[in-house]
Amino acid sequence: MRNKKIIVVGATGKVGREILSILREENIPAQNIAAAASYRSKGSLLDYSNSKIEVSDLDDVDFASYDIAIFSAGGEVSKKYVPIATKAGCVAIDNTSYFRMDKTVPLVVPEINFSDIEKYENKKIIANPNCSTIQTVMVLKPLHDIFGLKEAVISTYQSVSGAGQKGVAELLSQTQDLLSRNSIEPHYFKKQIAFNIIPQIDVFTDSLYTKEELKMMNETKKILGIDNIEITATCARVPVFVGHAVSVFAKFHKTVDLKKAVAGIENFNGVKIMDDPKNYEYATPLDAASKNEVFVSRIRKHPTTDNAISFWCVCDNLRKGAALNAVQIAKRLFSD
Ligand code: A2P
Repeated sequence: MRNKKIIVVGATGKVGREILSILREENIPAQNIAAAASYRSKGSLLDYSNSKIEVSDLDDVDFASYDIAIFSAGGEVSKKYVPIATKAGCVAIDNTSYFRMDKTVPLVVPEINFSDIEKYENKKIIANPNCSTIQTVMVLKPLHDIFGLKEAVISTYQSVSGAGQKGVAELLSQTQDLLSRNSIEPHYFKKQIAFNIIPQIDVFTDSLYTKEELKMMNETKKILGIDNIEITATCARVPVFVGHAVSVFAKFHKTVDLKKAVAGIENFNGVKIMDDPKNYEYATPLDAASKNEVFVSRIRKHPTTDNAISFWCVCDNLRKGAALNAVQIAKRLFSD
């Protein structure tokens, strides 16, 4: 990947900036990296190692100059520009939900289903899953391999950075205003987010589930490659800046042996167990922020249902939940 030309679309956003820091950690030279965003950011400079990268207006980008385009600028931008990028010869790794459920496009978490890319007709667009879905399937996968997943009841507690810069700005300004005893008016979120919890992420559908909840339900099946599982999800926005937490109750075809479950999770790449309740050892978003792993805590067998297990997992939504997963895909695609 070191010799490939990479353009990050949406480079000034929360995920875009994280992609640049991960590329920097991978020692990709600055001359191989380009950044694009909206016309508003044209000409602005982003720090990269000891140099600066100038941001281009996406409309001015010639995708033929790049091998890899990583998109993180929203579904509408991907809808229009991903086909332009692939037509010009790029491999597009798309962080938005726009292509995820397209039957011709692979939806990839490298530790789980990298080889899926070969099965799909379209190998030039690779969709990066939803943030809370990635961290959940990273724990469900080893359990599924051992016991066979049958059902999952999932509740998420998602940080405001999942909503991008506007979400972060709103939590910050509302918190400052409330502590200064000023009145506040919600703008980006539908209700006050500071000192509150909002049971809505993305828009409601006719099914009364939100789109975020449907993403969790549908994407889990696609990544794990199993259709016949019952999943329900409730996704909530919490006043945390970085790090999503997910609570899962899962039922399996086989009786669960807790030791085997813990060993399976422990041995899975990219997952770390942090689970010593007697010593108050469990993962919170602050423990996961800026880290690459998915942290798993509160692993317990249901007292009366032999085939059920509950767990709590936390992950930096901007890293493994988005930017890191995208860069891992690029790295494996171009591992020369
Ligand atoms: P810009 O900063 O110029 O608005 P976030 O998810 O953190 O809000 O970031 C969204 C990213 O997507 C930003 O980099 C933003 O650029 C970019 N973006 C939003 N709309 C467009 C667009 N129409 N064309 C190109 N980039 C866009």
